[in-house]
Amino acid sequence: MTFSNRLIQWYLENKRDLPWRNTTNPYPIWLSEIILQQTRVAQGLPYYERFIETFPTVFDLANASEEQVLKLWQGLGYYSRGRNLHKTAQIIAFELNGTFPTTYTELLKLKGIGSYTAAAIASFSQKEVVPVVDGNVFRILARYFDVETDISSATAKKEFTALANELIDSKQPDVFNQALMEFGALQCVPKNPNCSICVFKDSCAALQKKKVDLLPIKLKKTKVTERFFNYLVLEDERGHSIIQQRTAKGIWHNLYEFPLIESDKELNEKEVKEKISTTTFLTNELISLKPYDEKSVLHILSHQRLKIRFWELKVEGMLKNGIAREAVKKLPFPIVIFNFIEKNF
Ligand code: ADE
Repeated sequence: MTFSNRLIQWYLENKRDLPWRNTTNPYPIWLSEIILQQTRVAQGLPYYERFIETFPTVFDLANASEEQVLKLWQGLGYYSRGRNLHKTAQIIAFELNGTFPTTYTELLKLKGIGSYTAAAIASFSQKEVVPVVDGNVFRILARYFDVETDISSATAKKEFTALANELIDSKQPDVFNQALMEFGALQCVPKNPNCSICVFKDSCAALQKKKVDLLPIKLKKTKVTERFFNYLVLEDERGHSIIQQRTAKGIWHNLYEFPLIESDKELNEKEVKEKISTTTFLTNELISLKPYDEKSVLHILSHQRLKIRFWELKVEGMLKNGIAREAVKKLPFPIVIFNFIEKNF
């Protein structure tokens, strides 16, 4: 049996019943793929359901505010994906009259849609014969064919795409692509796959050569930087606090946060006090300053390790631009700050 036939047979027997698999409508397909780039199915499913319920059509999404979209996206990370989702919905709704492009080439022109997402939408909605190629597919093909190409190299994508193009079932590219994804998610997993029950156990090159743990090869390790965030949780005589929108490019763009002092090391109380006295934003007299927790919270992102500490600052009088605590929770926050607010506000 061919690779493709065996894969599809496995899929038909093992597939999960997922809502975006019972439609050819590109809108829910697109939504699910953007969410699933961010997370596994188990965590992504409730986000998908909330999005579809809140925005049943691309027009509903386009007419929402960015803040509303980011609030629903809260916790998924990579907030630029949520912002691009919103912008692309507006292009489709207002510039393309609500007609979703469905060809691979047209889809690629949209913000936030790369080759993987374009292939997924075009194949699932129109059966266009284009393979999905992402990290899961690199892993499956590298193992099955014993490909030693470094997946972090510039040419890897092209090489694996060529291979996937030879394998794809041109009569049912949609099923083939879903099958590849499902196989990567359930069977050919990164760590400790159970090869003894695999349908490819007699033909997988990596298994024959005892190289399953070694493939795929990834040489370039992502560079991770460490940052120190000190958040100032102010409280005036009315119990009001200050919340700011993060306008800087980079992580958490357009999300909300407390006034931030970023430092190059962990700060103690005295150092935080000094930093505050040299900034002009706070004009109220300080009553007290203390950290909420003994230690900072470690928040790990793909390229950054954030050490975050929240400081309680009681101040005299009333804060200019102060906000009542109950009003805060509706805004979109980085999840680490939202969790702090849920616990302490
Ligand atoms: N991960 C990314 N896309 C997926 C899909 N369509 N089904 C299951 N998992 C996925």
